Amino acid sequence: MVWQRHHFMATRTGRLHFYPCGPLILYSLLLYAFLTKASNDSYLNDTALRLNYGGITNWAHFSTPADVRAQCADGIPLRIAYFTRHTGTLWDWIAIAAHLHVPWTRVNPGLFLQYGINASSAARVWHDVGHVICHMADILIFSDTIPDARPLLQGGCQTPIVLQVTNRFDFEVLPSDLPSYVALLSEVARRPHVWWVSNNPYEEEYMVRRGVKLPPAERRMMLRPVGTCLLPDAAPPTSGEGGGGDAAAVADATIRVAMILPPYSRHLENTFIMPWLLRHGLTAHVQVYRQHYGGPSVLARHRGVITVPYQTSVMKMYEGLAAGAVFVIPSPELFATLVRELDLHRMSFCCRDLLRNHPDDWPQFMDWYHPDFVSAHVLYDNLKDLKRFLTDHAWSSQLVSERRRIGTAAMAASRERTLDGYGHLLRAVSQQVCAATTPEQLRARGAVFRAGKSLSSLSSLSPSPLAAADDDDDNGGGVPNGLTLLAAGVEGSGGGRSGSGGGGGGGEALA
Ligand SMILES: *[C@@H]1O[C@H](CO)[C@@H](O)[C@H](O)[C@H]1NC(C)=O
Ligand SMILES: *[C@@H]1O[C@H](CO)[C@@H](O)[C@H](O)[C@H]1NC(C)=O
Repeated sequence: MVWQRHHFMATRTGRLHFYPCGPLILYSLLLYAFLTKASNDSYLNDTALRLNYGGITNWAHFSTPADVRAQCADGIPLRIAYFTRHTGTLWDWIAIAAHLHVPWTRVNPGLFLQYGINASSAARVWHDVGHVICHMADILIFSDTIPDARPLLQGGCQTPIVLQVTNRFDFEVLPSDLPSYVALLSEVARRPHVWWVSNNPYEEEYMVRRGVKLPPAERRMMLRPVGTCLLPDAAPPTSGEGGGGDAAAVADATIRVAMILPPYSRHLENTFIMPWLLRHGLTAHVQVYRQHYGGPSVLARHRGVITVPYQTSVMKMYEGLAAGAVFVIPSPELFATLVRELDLHRMSFCCRDLLRNHPDDWPQFMDWYHPDFVSAHVLYDNLKDLKRFLTDHAWSSQLVSERRRIGTAAMAASRERTLDGYGHLLRAVSQQVCAATTPEQLRARGAVFRAGKSLSSLSSLSPSPLAAADDDDDNGGGVPNGLTLLAAGVEGSGGGRSGSGGGGGGGEALA
């Protein structure tokens, strides 16, 4: 009635004049609402609900993933939770998610997990908030430091998980804890709902060397960063030093070669290059920056950026190439010689093993020197070459603009591969989510167990005496053995293995 009166008033005042058949549409809407309400009633069917949930006795720890049948039916993108501590990877994800139009939220594990979390702490996190983390989105992506995923992997969360390995999968895991962590990941590699992305070609090599058995190729891919940097625009160079106004300062910047002094003294820039520049009176050709130099757009203004790789890949490289920066790095031959001859006190480099294990093809694993990117850089074989680069402005400016073209094109091609790759990946993972959305499957996936010893003894829907103890009033005195399980079944086909891998680990650690 209210609707109707409103409609007539609106018609009188002319607000609905573009709807000559307004009443008809309104009544259709009412009919539609009535019909959908009627069909929704099939959801509110006590018999069906009892069939689905009647076996559950431990309601205190009950939690299920969201019902996404409607999203799946209509092809609406599923929700993603992106876990990262690292702002560079976050910026990259922001760009990828915007390109793919996916709804997502960010979680920063650094605010509630310690680095390299060990087995018993992971079990504790799973026990306390595993269900929250596991069910907070339809797809979970763990980036930056993979041990942040340990509570869910060890606990047996069955929400599809993408492990985006950007930085050594075992970051900060203690040596004493490493064997159990490696064993966990090797076991995780067999789970169909865990997908592995590495963001540079070195990570898989590193994992294999440490004994991780990788998943089959269809659940494992290498997708590089797209090189998005979301720093605020850097202020244009000021005329502080020379006077002569902004234009002169900009011109000055383009003439100088940039060099960022790393904060740790054992980097070659500090131990050798800077003293060498001073000794040879070359500092006028170089603009030295400290840590906060303003990002890739500042580097792109310069006639090259002197850099000595200390990692196989860094976000700075992808961001820089995307922005038009040109890196001036030792040639592969010189780099190999330097790594061989200088110890870690004179030259910081993450991955000396790589050059020993792959004396001939190490550039395949190191993105600075990878065939996809190496021709984007200015390479020098010796200090004489570097000196010529610094002092012969006309020649090196020409070289730099040539390399800039190569670098931006290489990065554009790499970006496209990455965006396509994430498109494929998320479609595949979404299909996996959508293939198991009956209430029964959701409930099975939702069986968030508290850590306990006898998980494997419970695999049926029938109420079990073990499951009858409901520890609503948990007094905080640790985990009672075997008392705290949901009576819901474990997932059938395509299943997770919350019983074997997760429960065992958790139980042991807490026992
Ligand atoms: C309610 O659910 C049961 C079990 O699935 C089914 O047999 C029954 O037909 C449903 N009733 C209605 C009214 O949909
Ligand atoms: C795991 O880490 C926690 C927190 O750092 C520590 O208290 C505990 O002793 C560690 N456990 C083992 C077995 O190392």
